[in-house]
Amino acid sequence: MNYAQTLSTIYDEVLPLIRKGQVADYIPQLAKVDPGKFGIYLHFLEGESFAMGDAEEQFSIQSISKVLMLCMAVGKLGERVYQRVDVEPSGDPFNSLVQLEYEQGIPRNPFINAGALVITDMLIDAFDDPKQYFLEFARAISGSQGVAYNAGVAKSEKQCGFKNAAIVNLMKSFGNIKNDVEDVLELYYDFCSLEMSCQELAKAFCTIANHGKSIINKKKYLSESQFKRITAIMMTCGFYDEAGEFAFRVGLPGKSGVGGGIVAILPNKFSIAVWSPGLNEKGNSLVGMKVLELFTTKTNLSIF
Ligand code: DON
Repeated sequence: MNYAQTLSTIYDEVLPLIRKGQVADYIPQLAKVDPGKFGIYLHFLEGESFAMGDAEEQFSIQSISKVLMLCMAVGKLGERVYQRVDVEPSGDPFNSLVQLEYEQGIPRNPFINAGALVITDMLIDAFDDPKQYFLEFARAISGSQGVAYNAGVAKSEKQCGFKNAAIVNLMKSFGNIKNDVEDVLELYYDFCSLEMSCQELAKAFCTIANHGKSIINKKKYLSESQFKRITAIMMTCGFYDEAGEFAFRVGLPGKSGVGGGIVAILPNKFSIAVWSPGLNEKGNSLVGMKVLELFTTKTNLSIF
């Protein structure tokens, strides 16, 4: 298979869709991103890689960080994590509050905002300096010291994060947040503000595709069972109320972010990251979804 040619064909096919989606403007700093940006990076576990477009330019990974947060929590605390967060698809938008009230403050899964906020609360108790540890973890598995937080994006989100504040407060009222609400929100926004390129993301997620063992430093971060479970949650919950659609069209475990990034993996084989800031109405990259659908259709490389 000529992957360079395949990516180039896909690029031509999606070109008319670029700039069609809406950049996330509920975070003022993200509204400034050029909607014409577009990158793809495909990295095979054996080492071969293929890139297109702005694959080496960093962007705000936003909710993609939720996968790294879960890896960090499960790696340290084990399966206890799942006592405070469930593993069911929500079928609701990523920042929804509706299920939380009648499910007594237990979020549906770790990849919606409520779930990631509970995970953040756990990380505050589990690590002396969770912000630094998270950064070092992302740098280690991407093999890049250039990975960094964007303080301006974190601040910008904090200033208008009223829904996230409501979510943490509601969960605190049910006893599922142990720390100070402001501390949880601040660290969560820091995690979301991490900036990585498609290249760095694809390399980092090869760790998950490789059953939790980094292809960079050979360290095993997850047990086999932890790998299986995190990958299953990516498959069922990685795209909020579009998780079924992503499974149907693409057929890979993955995760999106409102910065316009999507990363997907085929366990034992590869990781692929796409960036196009224009989002569809569900908050997932419009072009990113299409690129990955075309990729698995043309290569027959999906889990199904
Ligand atoms: O909390 C938020 O709303 C953002 N920091 C992250 C949301 C996000 O990326 C949802 N992804 N599609």
